[in-house]
Amino acid sequence: METLFANKNKIDSSENSIVIYDNQDKSLYKAEEIRNKIILGDALDVLRKIESDLFDMVFIDPPYFLQLQKKKLKRWNVKTDVEGVFDEWDKFSSFEEYDDFIQSILKGVKRVMKENATIWVIGTYHNIFRIGKIMQDLGFWILNDVIWVKNNPMPNWLGVRFTNATETLIWAVKDKKVKKYTFNKELAKQFGIGKIGANVWQIPICSGKERIRDKDGNKIHSTQKPIELIKRVILTTTKEGDLILDPMAGTGTTGYVAKMLNRDFTMIERKPEYIEAIIRRFNR
Ligand SMILES: C[S@@+](CC[C@H](N)C(=O)[O-])C[C@H]1O[C@@H](n2cnc3c(N)ncnc32)[C@H](O)[C@@H]1O
Repeated sequence: METLFANKNKIDSSENSIVIYDNQDKSLYKAEEIRNKIILGDALDVLRKIESDLFDMVFIDPPYFLQLQKKKLKRWNVKTDVEGVFDEWDKFSSFEEYDDFIQSILKGVKRVMKENATIWVIGTYHNIFRIGKIMQDLGFWILNDVIWVKNNPMPNWLGVRFTNATETLIWAVKDKKVKKYTFNKELAKQFGIGKIGANVWQIPICSGKERIRDKDGNKIHSTQKPIELIKRVILTTTKEGDLILDPMAGTGTTGYVAKMLNRDFTMIERKPEYIEAIIRRFNR
C-alpha cells in the first residue's frame, strides 16, 4: 500500500477536493459523499464499501491482459519502437487470475447498480470473450455488443496478421427481467452505421490535443479512450443528472465527458499519477 500512495502529497485531499483517499478505517461510502469524486484506491476494496443500488450506469475499461513480454517492440520496416501496453496494471500471472479479478469487479459493480441501470464493458479479442462469459455466468443480460471501428488503428507492425482495428463494447443489464433501462434510440440511430443505426461506431483513436501528455511529450496513459466514444455511450444510455460509475478511471475520460454532458460521476483509480492527470484535465 505504501507504494500506491507514495506521491500523495502532490494531490489535494482537503474536504473540498475532488479526490478521496480510500483507507482501511473507512467502511461505508454514502451517495452524496462520492458524487463527482475520484476515489484513489483499489476498486475491489472501494466497491465493497459503496452503498447498494446507487448508479444509473457503469462504464468499465478494465486491463486487457495483453500478455506483451518484450519491453520494446520494433516496427518491421523502419525499426523504430512501437508504443504498446506494457504497464504493470495489465499484468496477471494466468487467465485464472485475470478471470478472478474480472469476476470480483463485476460482482462488486452489480451490487451498486440501480435496478434499471445498465453496464458497459470494453475490451479487445484478448479479454472480451472471457468477460462476456463471466458476465453471463453472473446473471447479467447482454443487450448489445457495439463494435468500435478505429479509423486510424495501429498497423500490425510485424506483418504477420490482420491489423486489429476494433474494440468491442458489451452493453448489459443486471438480469433478464430488467426492461425499463434508458435507451435514447434517436441518438443511437445517429451514431450507428446505416439508416437504422446498427451497432458499429467509427471513431478515431485518441490523438492530437486530446491525448494527455507529460511535459516531455510522453503519453501519460497507454489506453486513453476517445471522448467521442464515451460521449456516445453516455448520450445513448443515460439521462441528464444520472450518476455514472467508472471503477478503473485511467485518465478519467468517463467523468470528464459525464460533466460535459450534465451527468454526475464517481471514479476509482489505483495509480496516483493518473489521478494527478485527471485533476489537470478537469482544471484545463
Ligand atoms: C484500460 S485503463 C482505463 C483507461 C481509461 N478508460 C481512460 O480513458 O483513460 C485501466 C485502468 O484501470 C486501473 N486499474 C487496474 N486495476 C485496478 C484496481 N484494482 N483498482 C482501481 N484501478 C485499477 C489501471 O491503473 C488503469 O488506469
